[in-house]
Amino acid sequence: MPRDSTAVSYFAQPVLPQVEPADLSRAIQMLHRHTGIVLGDHKRDMAARTLGMRTHHAGLASVRAYLDFLEHNPLADEWDRFVSAFTINHTAFFREPHHFGILADFARSRARPVSVWCCASSTGEEPYTLAMTLHDACGQSEAAVSVLATDIDAQVVAQAKKGVYTLDRIKPVPVEFLRRYFLRGAGRQAGMVRVKPLIRNLVTFDELNLVAPSWPINQKFDAIFCRNTMIYFDKPTQSKILERFVTLLKPGGLLFAGHSENFTYLTKALHLEGQTVYSVA
Ligand SMILES: C[S@@+](CC[C@H](N)C(=O)[O-])C[C@H]1O[C@@H](n2cnc3c(N)ncnc32)[C@H](O)[C@@H]1O
Repeated sequence: MPRDSTAVSYFAQPVLPQVEPADLSRAIQMLHRHTGIVLGDHKRDMAARTLGMRTHHAGLASVRAYLDFLEHNPLADEWDRFVSAFTINHTAFFREPHHFGILADFARSRARPVSVWCCASSTGEEPYTLAMTLHDACGQSEAAVSVLATDIDAQVVAQAKKGVYTLDRIKPVPVEFLRRYFLRGAGRQAGMVRVKPLIRNLVTFDELNLVAPSWPINQKFDAIFCRNTMIYFDKPTQSKILERFVTLLKPGGLLFAGHSENFTYLTKALHLEGQTVYSVA
C-alpha cells in the first residue's frame, strides 16, 4: 500500500524525477540531522525511490528543488511526509513478550500512580500493550497508571490515537485481554477491533522527536520503553538520548530496550538488570 495519501494508479506509474547521487546524499544528511536516522549504503536504492516519489507528489520539478523547499521552509507540512516516508514503523502487540511480565511485577511494587513513557510508539500496539498490562497489574482506577506515547512520525501518531486494528494485528493479544479490552466492529467496521476507552484513556499520544534539542516533558517516569528505535541512530546520538532518559527516570526506574540493542557500553548510569532491561545505577 502506498504510504502517501496521493492515489497512485496501478496501471499508470508516474514518471519520477531523476535522483542524482549528490541529491541523495544531501537528503540522507538532512534526514540524519532532523531525525537522527542513519540510512546505510544498502538502503540507497530504496531511499532514491522514496525521494523521487516525494518530489513527484509535492509537485516539484526536481529533487534539488524539493530539498531546497524543505531547507527554506523548516515548518512546512511536507517535513512530516518526508520523515514519515523514511521511518520504519514495524511493531506489534506484545512484541518481545518477556518484558510485560517484568513490567507487571515491577508496577505492582511501585507507588501509585505508575507512569510509563513509550518514546517510539509507532501505530500504537506497544503503548496499548503497556496500558493493558498496567491496568491488569495495578487495578481498575484510571488514576493508578498512565502511559505517554510519542513518536516523530505524525502519521502513525494519528493512526495510533484511533486505536483501531484488523483482526490479524491482534493475534498476539491473550484471549482474556481481548475480551476485557477490545470492542469488535460491526457493519462497516466488521473485521476490525477498537481498543476500549478504558484503555485508550490511560494513554496520551503526542509527536516528539528524540533528537530535538529539548523535550516538552515535565514529569518523571517509573519506566521508559525505547525499543527497536536506537538501532537507527549512531552511537553519539544514542548516548545523548540515554543521558536524557536517565534524568527522566524516578529512582529505581527501568529502561526497556529492543532485542538487538545493547546500552552497556554507552553509559555507566544504567545497569543491566535482565534481558534488555536496565535500571538507573
Ligand atoms: C521500528 S519502530 C518501533 C516501534 C516500537 N517501539 C516497537 O518496538 O514495536 C521505530 C519507530 O521509531 C520512530 N522514530 C524514528 N526516529 C525517531 C525520532 N528521532 N524520534 C522519535 N521517534 C522516532 C519511527 O517513527 C518508528 O515509529
